[in-house]
Amino acid sequence: MSKVVIFNGSPRKNGYTAKLLEQVAKGAKSKGAEVIEFDLNDSGIRGCQGCYYCRTNDGCAIKDYLQPMYEAINAADAVVFGSPIYYHQITGQAKVWLDRTFPMIGGLGDFVPRHPGKKLITIFAQGASDPKIGAEGIKFINNVFALYGWDLEDSIHCCGTSDPSFAMSDELSLRAFKDGENLIG
Ligand SMILES: Cc1cc2nc3c(=O)[nH]c(=O)nc-3n(C[C@H](O)[C@H](O)[C@H](O)COP(=O)(O)O)c2cc1C
Repeated sequence: MSKVVIFNGSPRKNGYTAKLLEQVAKGAKSKGAEVIEFDLNDSGIRGCQGCYYCRTNDGCAIKDYLQPMYEAINAADAVVFGSPIYYHQITGQAKVWLDRTFPMIGGLGDFVPRHPGKKLITIFAQGASDPKIGAEGIKFINNVFALYGWDLEDSIHCCGTSDPSFAMSDELSLRAFKDGENLIG
């Protein structure tokens, strides 16, 4: 069975990031995938301690909420990451998580991907309607995932949520659902 692991960097359970991630999950499940989700707003998450355990071990020394994610990523065919844009970047919660993904690359200076070949979908939501606002932040994290050897299939950037009349388009929801379907098979 295909496995998909989702990381949600939004603190808002019913926010636009969560809605789009849900569509990806539904699409993947509709094709029979097993989907696991990690809530990056969980209070049981600790930041990287800089101990460098992961330079010589494929994993993390911190035993917390995120500990099971290393095996989940290892076993997954696809990774899905979502975050709102806060101050032109991913959220603080997502950045804390990102530091904890340092085990995805081994070595000291050469940074060899340890778990390459995963399909990847990234999802972003931002208040401003101008996509340029979040573009640099999105480029940054998509580049980090490329370093991990993960293959970006689609990157959705939902813009303009601060507008009181904003409603997520059916087109965007459908795109996310189809992204989920396309992760499988
Ligand atoms: C602390 C904070 C910082 C934000 N910074 C930005 C920003 O730099 N640019 C922007 O367009 N929207 C910004 N926003 C608005 C969010 O990106 C927007 O509300 C988005 O829809 C949140 O995603 P969610 O609906 O998944 O929670 C910010 C919101 C918060 C709470």
